[in-house]
Amino acid sequence: MGNFEPEIVGLCCHYCAYTAADMAGSKRISYPSNVKIIRVPCTGKVDAIHLMKALEKGADGVFVAGCLEGDCHFKNGNTRAAKRVVYVKNYIESLGFEPERVAMYNISAGMGERFAQIAGEFTEQIKALGPNPVKNIKSNHQAAGQ
Ligand code: FES
Repeated sequence: MGNFEPEIVGLCCHYCAYTAADMAGSKRISYPSNVKIIRVPCTGKVDAIHLMKALEKGADGVFVAGCLEGDCHFKNGNTRAAKRVVYVKNYIESLGFEPERVAMYNISAGMGERFAQIAGEFTEQIKALGPNPVKNIKSNHQAAGQ
């Protein structure tokens, strides 16, 4: 895929993944700048439409990172998020898109290295898939004046 640099959205729970990303930064553990982090109060607040919107707007990949199983501060927000991620994966696959463009991870606030690892692995995975096909569809529509 040459020098394709994917745009990746990471929807990170305030209590765990966001803090882990912060920890990675303060420990100077680098992770790809491709990942744009959006802090959410709990992954239970992430709906399927948010994931779909990110892809529609041109993100090449989107992941949700929530607390470890059993550690969600709102009881079961992370398990609800995991179900929504599976739903979106199945939905985009039915539309002909790669389900690997969407992922769910569970980490704790102290796992800065793990966050960096996830960000790196997911970025490589999306690089291997190539650009989000929605970008081509959009530019073709624009070129056709639609
Ligand atoms: Fe972190 Fe719910 S509080 S996933």
